[in-house]
Amino acid sequence: MDIFYHTPVLVDAVTRYLSVNPDGIYVDGTLGGGGHAESILTNISPKGKLIGFDMDIEAITFSKTRLGKYKDKILFIHGNFSNIKQHLNNLGVDSIDGLLLDLGLSSHQIDDALRGFSFREGNRIDMRMDREQQIDGWKVINTYDQNRLTDIFWKFGEERNSRRIAKHIIERRDKRQIESTEDLAEIISSSTGKQYLNKTLARIFQAVRIEVNNELENLRKALKDSIELLRTGGKIAVISYHSLEDRIVKDFFKEESRSVISSGNKYIPDIQRNALLKVLTKKPIIPSEEEIVVNPRARSAKLRVAERL
Ligand SMILES: C[S@@+](CC[C@H](N)C(=O)[O-])C[C@H]1O[C@@H](n2cnc3c(N)ncnc32)[C@H](O)[C@@H]1O
Repeated sequence: MDIFYHTPVLVDAVTRYLSVNPDGIYVDGTLGGGGHAESILTNISPKGKLIGFDMDIEAITFSKTRLGKYKDKILFIHGNFSNIKQHLNNLGVDSIDGLLLDLGLSSHQIDDALRGFSFREGNRIDMRMDREQQIDGWKVINTYDQNRLTDIFWKFGEERNSRRIAKHIIERRDKRQIESTEDLAEIISSSTGKQYLNKTLARIFQAVRIEVNNELENLRKALKDSIELLRTGGKIAVISYHSLEDRIVKDFFKEESRSVISSGNKYIPDIQRNALLKVLTKKPIIPSEEEIVVNPRARSAKLRVAERL
């Protein structure tokens, strides 16, 4: 199981920006292999706590072993970070000092061919982070109608050929079901020029994955709830790996750090209110060249951090 051990992305910056209060309560919403969690745990005293979430039971099982020596300071939750409020409520926790979301997939999930995330392998189109959930990539590709597929490819993959690819999927489905990631890749190949193929494959697979795991809605919900949960001075740090996620984080931080809301009409005064967040990273923090050499999956990472006012 040592495949879970990959270097945590931007770990120094995350630790610095969270400026961990040793007696504080922290949430790692995306435990994965526990790399970031470990760096937070080393800064927490026996009075503090880290609550680690992952919707993938394999990540929880792995982290329980890896972080066994911190067992008095960590609680594990096999669950979705979009339900953070409810889970913390069940634990009797109503405020926290920091929240980390290191979004997307772990290397383990990407590298395990059976999880069906990669277009380079020929397994069932699965793509579920939580393997207990009903909907998977197979269901999306084999049961959604053409308009819905077009919409997903456009909204979650920003793919210009969405309509054509969706049409080819439906035509192929009329003959037989689309069983594997290889079948799906083949349909995309036949709908796309060779020079755009790799990017198109990546965009369509990303779109299906986002749909299956409801990734953007989960992020929006957790951001919204973090405002209620963070105590004054508490930090929220989010690492995103593509522009759709980064835009959501950037816009949310911008909106919540405003103290004036324009009425949009020159005859109606603007609304004054207390800003709820202060953005600590004017520009997103990105990995250095050296980090990307050591950990190529860090290359698209962007870290944004805000402080609760
Ligand atoms: C990029 S990895 C995190 C890596 C981790 N920071 C480390 O140091 O090893 C993302 C993890 O978050 C989990 N995940 C993604 N979305 C989630 C959600 N909405 N709720 C809970 N876990 C989620 C995935 O299953 C995956 O294990």
